Amino acid sequence: MGRGNDELWYKDAVFYELYVRAFCDSDDDGKGDFQGLIRKLDYVQELGVDCIWLLPIYASPLRDDGYDVADFYSLHPDYGTLQDFQALLAEAHRRGLRIVTDLVMNHTSDQHPWFVESRSSKTSPKRDYYVWSATDHKYRDARIIFLDTEESNWAYDRISGEYYWHRFFSHQPDLNLDNPAVQQAMLDVMAYWLDMGIDGFRADAVPYLYEREGTNCENLPETHAYLKRVRRFLDQRYKGRVLLAEANQWPEDVRSYFGAGDEFHMAFHFPVMPRLYLALKRQDRSPIVEIMKRTPAIPESCQWCTFLRNHDELTLEMVTPQERAFMWDAYAPQPEMRLNLGIRRRLAPLLDNDRRKIELLNSMLFTLPGSPVIYYGDEIGMGDNVALPDRNGVRTPMQWSDEPYAGFCDQAVPSTYTPVIDDPAYGYRRVNVEAQARDGGSLLNLMRHLIRCRKQHQALGCGSCEFLESANRTVLTHLRCHGGEDILVLHNLSAATQSVTLDLQDWAGVVPIDIPSGSTFPPISGRVYELKLAPYQYLWLLLEGPPR
Ligand code: NOJ
Repeated sequence: MGRGNDELWYKDAVFYELYVRAFCDSDDDGKGDFQGLIRKLDYVQELGVDCIWLLPIYASPLRDDGYDVADFYSLHPDYGTLQDFQALLAEAHRRGLRIVTDLVMNHTSDQHPWFVESRSSKTSPKRDYYVWSATDHKYRDARIIFLDTEESNWAYDRISGEYYWHRFFSHQPDLNLDNPAVQQAMLDVMAYWLDMGIDGFRADAVPYLYEREGTNCENLPETHAYLKRVRRFLDQRYKGRVLLAEANQWPEDVRSYFGAGDEFHMAFHFPVMPRLYLALKRQDRSPIVEIMKRTPAIPESCQWCTFLRNHDELTLEMVTPQERAFMWDAYAPQPEMRLNLGIRRRLAPLLDNDRRKIELLNSMLFTLPGSPVIYYGDEIGMGDNVALPDRNGVRTPMQWSDEPYAGFCDQAVPSTYTPVIDDPAYGYRRVNVEAQARDGGSLLNLMRHLIRCRKQHQALGCGSCEFLESANRTVLTHLRCHGGEDILVLHNLSAATQSVTLDLQDWAGVVPIDIPSGSTFPPISGRVYELKLAPYQYLWLLLEGPPR
C-alpha cells in the first residue's frame, strides 16, 4: 500500500472522498451501498489513490447527510450490513487501498437515544451529555455557521423547558465534552471502528468541541487537551492509523491542531483552497503565495490535506469580506449558486468546463504542499444541480456510463435518491467514466497520469517548498525538493502566453524535463533562464543533471 506499512503513509498519499450513497447501487433501490462500492474498487485503485475517505456511514435520519448520527455503532441500513462493510474493508485492503471514515464528536442527531433521554427531563441521567441552559444568553460571542438556516446557536426544547446548544442545524445538538462520560464514549466509538480495521478518521468540526463564556467557543485549550487524549489513545493501540482534522480556520489557528506532533497527523488547509480560484480569476499568484508564506511550519510527522472541492459548499469563511464579494461575483453570479458563506458548485462548472483551467487547478493540487483529496466525480468533470436544496446539488450519483441512471443503478429502478445530472454540458450521456476510460485524451486519463507522476517523485509528496520570485505575477513558480530531487513547478494563471525569467544558476548544466509530458527543455546555462508558457500551461520540471 503506497509506502507499504510505513506509519507515515499519509504524508504523500492521495485521498479520494466519496459518498457511499452516491457511488454505486448494487441492490437497485436507487441508493448507493457498500456492495456497489466494492464493485467499483478497481476503478478507484486504477485512479491511483491511496486512501478513500467515506462520508458518514452510520445510522442517521439523514437530515445532514449522515453528519446527524443517530447511532455511532450501527451502519445506515441503506448502505448494507456490517458484513458488507467488513467485506468492503477487506476488498479495499486487498487492493492496497486504505479507508478512513468520518468521526463526528461535536454533535449527534436529535434522534440519538442519548439526546432522546437527555431531553426527557432535567434530571435525566443523560442530561449532561448535551449542553443545556435555562436561557439563550450564554456564549454570545460564538458565531452562527449555518447562516442560511439558523438564527441562533440555542434551540428551545419544549419537552424539558430549556435551551440546548447546537453549532450546526438545530436538529444536531452539541455533545457536552466537559462530561467525562462523553469523553470516554467517543474513545469507545473510535475503538469499535478501529478494531474493525479502518485506517483512521476524518474528525468533523473539531474547533467547536468545548464552550467557554467570553470566548468565540472555537479552538479552546480544553479542546486541544481532549484531542491530545484522543491521539494518545490512538497511538497506544492503533499505530499507523491517521487522524485528520476538519478545522476551517486560519493557518495560525489550524497549526495548533498538530500540537507537537501529538494531536492530529493531518489537517485540511482551508484557506489555500479559495485562493487557488482567486489567483486564477485575478491572474495573479499573490493570494496563493501570501497564504502559503503565512502558513506556519508543522511537525515532521504531520501533513496538510489540500482539496479543490468537497461535499460542502466551497467555503469562503477564510477570505476577507472583499475577497468573498469578488469570489461570489466571479464564481457564483446567480443567487442560487450561493449558500451560507460559500458557493455550492462543483469544480468543472466553477471553471466554465474549461479543460485547461481544470487541469491547471488539479496540477496546483498535486504539486503544492499537502496530500491532495479528490472529490468523487471531479476526476471526470461532473457537473452540479443548483436546483436541488442545500448541498445536494454536488452530491448527485456518480456517472459511470451513458445508460439510464448513468449506470449508477439498474434501469428498472423507479428513481434514484436524487436525480442524476442530465443537462447538455455535464449530463451522464456526455460525461461518464466509461467514455473517458476509452479516450486516451480524457480528463480521467490525465488525472490518472498526473497522480502516477506525482507518486514517482517524492519531492512532490513531501518535499520542501519554496516560492520563486519573478517579475511576472501571472506565473506561480515553486520549487519542491526532497532527498536530492529538485522539481521546479510553473503555472500560468492567465489566458495569454506568458514568459518568466528565473535565476537558476544553482542548476547550471541541467536539462529540465517536464515530468507529465516528458519533453526536454534547453539546458540551464548562465544566470538567467527564460521560459514561455502557453495560456494556463503548467510544467513540472525535473532538474536533474550532472552532479553539482
Ligand atoms: C462539517 C461537514 O463537512 C458538513 O457536511 C456538516 O454539515 C457539518 N460538519 C455539520 O456536521
